Amino acid sequence: MFNQKTAWITGASSGIGEALAVELARQGARLVLSARRETELQRVAKATGLPADAVLVLPLDVTDAADLAEKVQTVLARFGRVDYVFQNAGITQRSLVQDTDPVVYRRLMDVNFFGAVALTQAVLPQLLTQKSGHFVVTSSVAGKIGVKQRSGYCASKHALHGFFDSLRAEVANEGLRVTIVCPGYIRTPISSSALSASGEVYGKSDRAQEQGMPADECARRILKAVAAGREEIYVGGREIWGIYLKRFFPAILSKIIRNRRVEG
Ligand SMILES: NC(=O)c1ccc[n+]([C@@H]2O[C@H](COP(=O)([O-])OP(=O)(O)OC[C@H]3O[C@@H](n4cnc5c(N)ncnc54)[C@H](OP(=O)(O)O)[C@@H]3O)[C@@H](O)[C@H]2O)c1
Repeated sequence: MFNQKTAWITGASSGIGEALAVELARQGARLVLSARRETELQRVAKATGLPADAVLVLPLDVTDAADLAEKVQTVLARFGRVDYVFQNAGITQRSLVQDTDPVVYRRLMDVNFFGAVALTQAVLPQLLTQKSGHFVVTSSVAGKIGVKQRSGYCASKHALHGFFDSLRAEVANEGLRVTIVCPGYIRTPISSSALSASGEVYGKSDRAQEQGMPADECARRILKAVAAGREEIYVGGREIWGIYLKRFFPAILSKIIRNRRVEG
């Protein structure tokens, strides 16, 4: 499925994006690795074991929309096409609404939502010309459910569903596909880079995260679902049942979430 295909991954310097890179390389893909930290991207490129001509380290900040059109040209100059775009870069939050500086909401939306929108708009003309291509978007269980201390994170992930469900409908007849991935707790460093109420880095890891599904298992499940052409998938432990509770018994889920204690 992924053999000889070009996959562009944002958020490739760590966690789920890093695990996707390693697994895609194992399955024969050529990779474009993007995130802000170039040294970490170089480390991941090495970990994939790919020869230099099959991997492009392309540092970028997804909030720098003006830069993205040029990055698309760099990818095309190297590989000639883009088959998969894994829109995976993201940051989270640990703060109550009453304490949160509005700047934190702007930042969460800029990275998690507008970053994905900007890259989509930059690369979409090429995928339409090719008449093929697949966007794989990392949302979250928090893209389906609102929980305490994640108001901006949940909002940004909910927004992804509206945008990418619309895009899927618009481009389905053009040969393009969209898969939205909703992970539960996955073992990655995401909570250490979370924003606190003032916008400072939270800098701690959470127990739920530490006990979550290993990132490599998450990546394998994502790729299986993408290969099967699934539109939306849930990956994680029993926390993903919250999505079904919300759908069928919303009052019960609301009570469970209300009674959960605040972290920190
Ligand atoms: N771990 C979980 O339990 C979990 C659950 C649900 C959803 N998710 C989602 O999964 C995705 C990956 O998160 P993760 O858990 O793997 O966390 P992670 O290890 O912290 O990875 C986040 C990645 O996003 C990149 N990134 C952050 N801001 C960026 C920016 N402005 N421009 C470009 N890249 C940026 C980071 O790289 P740089 O710092 O080098 O830029 C890093 O590679 C996120 O969208 C997250 O919301 C995670």
